Amino acid sequence: MSDRYIDFANSSIGQRLVGALGLPSPVRLERWQAGRLRPVEGPLLIGGGELAGQVNRFASKLTDAVFSYGPGSFNATSWIPGQGPKLKAVVFDASALLHTDQLKQLREFFQPLLRSLERNAHLVVLGRPPETLSDPFAASAQRALEGFSRSLAKELRNGSTLQLLYVGEGAEDQLEGALRFFLSPKSAYVSGQVLRLNACASQVQDWSRPLAGRKALVTGAARGIGASIAETLVRDGAHVTLLDVPAARNDLEALAARLDGRFITLDICAENAPAQLIEQLPDGLDILVHNAGITRDKTLANMTPEFWDAVLAVNLNAPQVLTKALLDSGTLRDDARVILLASISGIAGNRGQTNYAASKAGLIGLAQAWAPLLGERGISINAVAPGFIETQMTAHIPFALREAGRRMSSLGQGGLPQDVAEAVAWLGQPGSGAISGQALRVCGQSILGA
Ligand SMILES: NC(=O)c1ccc[n+]([C@@H]2O[C@H](COP(=O)([O-])OP(=O)(O)OC[C@H]3O[C@@H](n4cnc5c(N)ncnc54)[C@H](O)[C@@H]3O)[C@@H](O)[C@H]2O)c1
Repeated sequence: MSDRYIDFANSSIGQRLVGALGLPSPVRLERWQAGRLRPVEGPLLIGGGELAGQVNRFASKLTDAVFSYGPGSFNATSWIPGQGPKLKAVVFDASALLHTDQLKQLREFFQPLLRSLERNAHLVVLGRPPETLSDPFAASAQRALEGFSRSLAKELRNGSTLQLLYVGEGAEDQLEGALRFFLSPKSAYVSGQVLRLNACASQVQDWSRPLAGRKALVTGAARGIGASIAETLVRDGAHVTLLDVPAARNDLEALAARLDGRFITLDICAENAPAQLIEQLPDGLDILVHNAGITRDKTLANMTPEFWDAVLAVNLNAPQVLTKALLDSGTLRDDARVILLASISGIAGNRGQTNYAASKAGLIGLAQAWAPLLGERGISINAVAPGFIETQMTAHIPFALREAGRRMSSLGQGGLPQDVAEAVAWLGQPGSGAISGQALRVCGQSILGA
């Protein structure tokens, strides 16, 4: 469903009216277009500590305009506030800020550049995981980065985003993959997020096809977010099997033909679903995306046992049972990537969704609990938690609630299925084994549960 308010707010008459009335003025977000090569099209500014130098080493692969600014020095053109070009991307390494006094460097670095950002600029702060630092003051200073980053993300305008990445010892060589996602339009609808990168032995070989040679399964792939995930995985080089209920066969078959993939019609809750799946995936699996999900909303006072059971069965029990069966049978290969579609309802809670929110929170818990065990085989497992995404699911929400869902975020609009798909595709990359047991929100920094 299209968001007519964004069209209006970006028209010439709308811009004047919206400004005069003080209404929200969301900008149209820039998305990744097929065929694009460079993650950053415009000036990239790098500053801060030792990790900034490491970023500088591969920065010319991200963009052809690299600048440096602030403490720490490396070989790049200096950016001068008020004189330098407008910035499309910024990376600041704050890992050397180990005392309260040093935190002022955050203000000193960011303040002069905030009025020099292009539309849809992407900013990243780097730090070290506070829990790995033995000095309590140092750990506290690194933890302070979280409050700073989430707040600055809320202050950015014109579709710009900001994230904080805590880089563990040995994870420095995975920064390129993370920045290719977070500095590019692939992360258009992700903001205010905090992720931890850990050491990972696998690397992407070819950045134009980071999933080349990988076999993927996407459940609930006939439409909406699932269909977009399948398309994006194929764009990135994966071979995809699409799964959906038998009633969705026509859509599934058409999409599979277009993507040169295979399809399976199966109810993931069927008793024989694990056996069927194992049989139909004889070549094994590198990427498993549990996207199929349903809502049956009622306040708990009115919740029927059927509504409760159906949501828990599809959204939580099936991903648990199927993943275990695929693991035990060896279908899910070493170094595989498992991605679970959760929801910000599972983080913030939502009136009328006790069943749905329980199922989605359960998925986040599943990723957390399973990550250390699966890590022994190089397998990562993460949750992606979408906020308000424009699909058939959200088109059925009553008008006022739908408008509230769209506007109550830093980016002031709903996301597109592509936004969720880009996050899934990134987490599916070989190098994204650096992230496991975590939940990545794709919600435009929704104020729900933020
Ligand atoms: N749309 C949003 O705003 C939003 C927000 C947060 C989370 N999500 C989650 O993202 C995922 C996709 O959402 P969507 O909006 O594209 O939903 P959708 O309803 O458009 O698509 C879901 C697909 O899952 C399939 N499916 C349902 N039950 C199944 C079963 N038992 N076996 C096999 N397939 C089954 C459906 O047939 C459908 O094709 C869901 O897990 C949803 O909970 C969506």
